Amino acid sequence: MAKVIGPGSLIVDVTGFAPHLPIEGETVKGTTLRFGPGGKGSNQMTAAHRAGSEVKIIGRRGNDVLGQILKKHYETEGMSEEYIEVNDNDETGSALIEIDEATAQNRIVVIFAANEKVGRTEVYAAEKDFIDCDAVLTQHENTVDAIIASKELANKYGKPFILNPAPYINLPKGIFEGIDYVTPNESEAEQFTGIKVNTIEDCHKAAAKFFEMGVKNVIITLGVRGAFYSNGTESVLIPSIKVKAVETTGAGDAFNGGLATAIAEKMPIDIALKFATCTAAISVTRLGSSPSMPYREEILALMEKEFGITL
Ligand code: RIB
Repeated sequence: MAKVIGPGSLIVDVTGFAPHLPIEGETVKGTTLRFGPGGKGSNQMTAAHRAGSEVKIIGRRGNDVLGQILKKHYETEGMSEEYIEVNDNDETGSALIEIDEATAQNRIVVIFAANEKVGRTEVYAAEKDFIDCDAVLTQHENTVDAIIASKELANKYGKPFILNPAPYINLPKGIFEGIDYVTPNESEAEQFTGIKVNTIEDCHKAAAKFFEMGVKNVIITLGVRGAFYSNGTESVLIPSIKVKAVETTGAGDAFNGGLATAIAEKMPIDIALKFATCTAAISVTRLGSSPSMPYREEILALMEKEFGITL
């Protein structure tokens, strides 16, 4: 079994559903409220785990009511809590999510809380697990120090390093140097490169900027239009799969978790992108972020049905 490790955010999603989202100053009568495990880091690791990897998240949460939701999730999934620090003085991260029932689109306010205490020390405390891992995966809901430290360890042990640069934050110059895979969506690609991404031509231009910054492979997720990939020599657009979406929260995380497992398993890049696409497609047909992540058998069945690929 391939192994994926990295610093990751642990957040509880507090999700309210309504027939439409309120405009500024408006109150809308909602229908349902749900509490569930979320956080980009934890969603991605859950996706990687269900897709077939052993995962080790380096994270932090409080010993509070929200923290219990995450504890239960890790126990039920059988995911390692070895590098999850639980501190009585910390608050567990939370996200306030509003879902439009008509379009399945969302709006999110995220409070990082304990996640902002995951830094260099915590990542280096897990160094022994970088030695035999197969991929390192992280995102932007911890600290910049955690990103840099995990990139250092990935580079030190020659492991593929995947950065999902979400949500957008101002990063120090040079951070992209030595990154194997960067996976922004259209708006993050624009924020980091200054190129507005509307067309495939724009994707190439944005990718060129990432290459200048030292990234080796660029994957821009384009929502319903699919996922664009380039390594500077070869490029491909993997179309998205048409499904009936009920909640899109965590779709990008599903893509990244599926991609991490595929890369950890050394799948060729076009197969890895299709594996990630299938993971994301199934996730949007279900409610919740971490709970919506599909299992490997489901991903493999969709790979066969959509792309005629048997793994
Ligand atoms: O990517 C979706 C995630 O972003 C949600 O689960 C929420 O926790 C926010 O961090």
